[in-house]
Amino acid sequence: MDNLDQLVSSALTDFTTVSEPARLEDIKARYLGKDGSLTVLLKGLGKLPPDERKIAGAAINIAKTRVESALTERRDALRQVALESQLAAEALDVTLPGRTQSRGSIHPVMRTLDRIEQLFRSIGFDVADGPEIESDWHNFTALNTPENHPARSMHDTFYLLDADGKVREDVLLRTHTSPVQIRTLLAHVEQHKHLDRMPEIRVICPGRVYRVDSDATHSPMFHQVEGLWVGEDVSFADLKGAIADFLRRFFESDDLKVRFRPSFFPFTEPSAEIDVAFMHGPMEGRWLEIAGCGMVHPNVLRFGGVDPEKYTGFAFGMGPDRLTMLRYGINDLRLFFDGDLRFLSQFQ
Ligand code: FA5
Ligand code: MG
Repeated sequence: MDNLDQLVSSALTDFTTVSEPARLEDIKARYLGKDGSLTVLLKGLGKLPPDERKIAGAAINIAKTRVESALTERRDALRQVALESQLAAEALDVTLPGRTQSRGSIHPVMRTLDRIEQLFRSIGFDVADGPEIESDWHNFTALNTPENHPARSMHDTFYLLDADGKVREDVLLRTHTSPVQIRTLLAHVEQHKHLDRMPEIRVICPGRVYRVDSDATHSPMFHQVEGLWVGEDVSFADLKGAIADFLRRFFESDDLKVRFRPSFFPFTEPSAEIDVAFMHGPMEGRWLEIAGCGMVHPNVLRFGGVDPEKYTGFAFGMGPDRLTMLRYGINDLRLFFDGDLRFLSQFQ
């Protein structure tokens, strides 16, 4: 029975050389499978004379048991190795700090918008809004902007396409919040048409606006807050007072550096732009334009259905993104819109 001993020891060696459970089962088949060497031997017993059959049968069975138990042992060992490596791979370091749910926070520009709203409400302003997809008429024509004005060009304004992919000339992404002036005037006049004297309009209109613009102080999508105050004798002095008071309260500073710079808008006369100097951060001392403003042009009042002989008003359009830059000393406004939490979470 030397053969059998050899067979057993070759099975045992084979078992120890594999480390893959699937390979082990292949090797098992070599010995114990349907055509495995031990199975073949057992099948051959029938051909032996009865007395030899008994002895050979017992010997083969012993060999078979040895092979089977070696197999079971190897299986267990491989399973143990697999388990240990899985445990090592999935090890938990219980001394690490837990993954807490991080708390969201209000976007710094939204904070500015809330603050602007709160400050203007406190001096009697209402809050209105208008559509971001606006008609060319509200955005330009009714704001006294001539047909050939550069702001209307495709270089500055995002126009919309019709179903055939052709540029539509009558609708666009609003380039400023000023069209809400027209909507407010028309709605106010309609609402009070039964009265002899129209009540004062005092409203701000915060919202998103769009222009073909991109650099450190210009984003293609940005925010504006329009302001409109129309009444019987609203003057440029009221405009300056309201803005100066707002800025002092917004920046919580009495020695803020603010300047009004003569400018031009088709929808105001006279017109000015307002600059504020950075108080801290990398841009300290530099001026940044934060708003355009002026006395509402008589043609705009007429487009809004208001008699310019009876009423006057001022309007402004400010950039809350720029106000946020100044407030926190940020030198690139595009950071606000990149969505990088490392930046945004500093404003919690
Ligand atoms: C206007 O948009 C006028 N409609 C403002 C106005 C309203 C004047 C009412 C008179 C009466 P302007 O293009 O200057 O003006 O924009 C106003 C403010 O928006 C700027 O002072 C600036 O603070 C901000 N702003 C303009 N373009 C961008 C931009 N691309 N990204 C961020 N802020 C901008
Ligand atoms: Mg400007």
